[in-house]
Amino acid sequence: MPRVDLTADPLARSDAAMLAVAAFAGDGDDAPPVPADGAGALGEALGIDLAAELQAVGFSGSPGEVVRIPTRGAVTASTVVVVGLGAADDATADHLRRAAAAVAGAAERVETLATDLPAALDTAEASDAAAAVVEGLLLGSYRFGTYRSEAPVHRLEAVTLHVGDADAAGDAVAAAQVTADATLFARDLVNTPPQDKRPPALAERVAESFADSDVQVRILDEQALADGGYGGILGVGRGSSEPPRLVELTYAPDGASRHVALVGKGITFDTGGISLKPSEAMETMKMDMAGAATVAAVVRAAADLRLPVKVTGLLALAENMPSGTATRVSDVLTMKGGKTVEVINTDAEGRLVLGDALVHASEQGPDAIVDIATLTGAAVVALGERIGVLMASDDALAGDLLAASRRTGEAFWQLPLATEQYGERLEGAIADLRNAGSRSAGTIFAGLFLHEFVGDGIPWAHLDIAGVAWTDEPYGYHAKGATGVPVRTLVRWLQAG
Ligand code: BES
Ligand code: MN
Ligand code: ZN
Repeated sequence: MPRVDLTADPLARSDAAMLAVAAFAGDGDDAPPVPADGAGALGEALGIDLAAELQAVGFSGSPGEVVRIPTRGAVTASTVVVVGLGAADDATADHLRRAAAAVAGAAERVETLATDLPAALDTAEASDAAAAVVEGLLLGSYRFGTYRSEAPVHRLEAVTLHVGDADAAGDAVAAAQVTADATLFARDLVNTPPQDKRPPALAERVAESFADSDVQVRILDEQALADGGYGGILGVGRGSSEPPRLVELTYAPDGASRHVALVGKGITFDTGGISLKPSEAMETMKMDMAGAATVAAVVRAAADLRLPVKVTGLLALAENMPSGTATRVSDVLTMKGGKTVEVINTDAEGRLVLGDALVHASEQGPDAIVDIATLTGAAVVALGERIGVLMASDDALAGDLLAASRRTGEAFWQLPLATEQYGERLEGAIADLRNAGSRSAGTIFAGLFLHEFVGDGIPWAHLDIAGVAWTDEPYGYHAKGATGVPVRTLVRWLQAG
């Protein structure tokens, strides 16, 4: 990850190899783009009329549009990059993130970059704007090169942000670096091929990542899971030659104001089990542990930021494989806490591992529980790859999470916890519950199932990230592959107190 420095000096005096400034779209179809304040000043330093120059090369200032302007020796940098922010009165912090990511793309071959992008927006607090630019640059320059013989190099080493008040932006920028780093940690775990993150190995890798931190790590192995009655996790894991794990992370700062439990679905590969998936549906199923990766990343950020909140993180890890030892369709599992579940479909495995983990979380007596899971294909059908699903038993908790989501640009939309309408579908023919219902309202059914395992009266929210955790095409500050959504939303929510 590139280093980030702050300064109040004018951009024209920077000694970076590349400078980046912003321009807004003009008002009306043929109107010229409008350089942001600092861009106009840089134009003067270059001895050009930047607006006229931009119009001449057909640059309109639409969001994320990028054009390079040669500097011909007028300043130290050899190139100036101008990035579009769209119409000035619509530009948001997320436009800044996306613009910064576009700049990061243009800066792939330089080592040093300087930009005054945060100063462009007067609709956002200076510190929020600086944080957004840092996030956009760091998330936008991410490449997963671990498995290539020649790693794709992003040469950018240092970024200097030119902001009006460097002291005021300092804390927000430091926090943005921590959050971006955690997001990229989640992306790395999700992008890792499934052979290298089978449950015991993934549990160890997560534990190692907390070696020098204030976070306690406890790993429940198959014996501990059997002793504790975790029939859901064991039932899903039994088809695999590698046993399941439940990882418990505890960050408990002195004087914590509240206690939050985060529960992540960690299916390290989802074949569907005996209810085997067709080949294409399996292609991306190494991402089925994105919820667990999110939890690990959020706990890491909470500890790095020294947030005054106790956080218990639970990673329910299992590999869902078909085999002679796998759970059968119509087998009955006894979950932690004693509820019984008839397995109608072994591909509805996430709710089985999460049920156990939610009971475990509830036993710790938290003030709120949030689970994060790539749970249902139906969530992808309903809202696609760029909007996640939220369901909740508590309106205040839902509202707080949605408010955090709006500030991070990670969109979520609420679906109803429709107990009245669909609760009866949960009933098993011979057991308490069944793990799959009718074809309709698949996302709601899954949420209702999970709710059965949440302790009475504990505010609970469920994030179905089946669509948003992964992208087959790059967009905004997301490369193809793992997105790291919703790490930033959850960190923002914890930061709110
Ligand atoms: N991991 C999948 C859900 C999924 C689908 C995530 C597509 C990401 C992209 C989950 O375990 C699953 O298979 N769900 C089934 C449930 C059904 C059998 C009730 C589904 O959604 O089809
Ligand atoms: Mn499945
Ligand atoms: Zn799954």
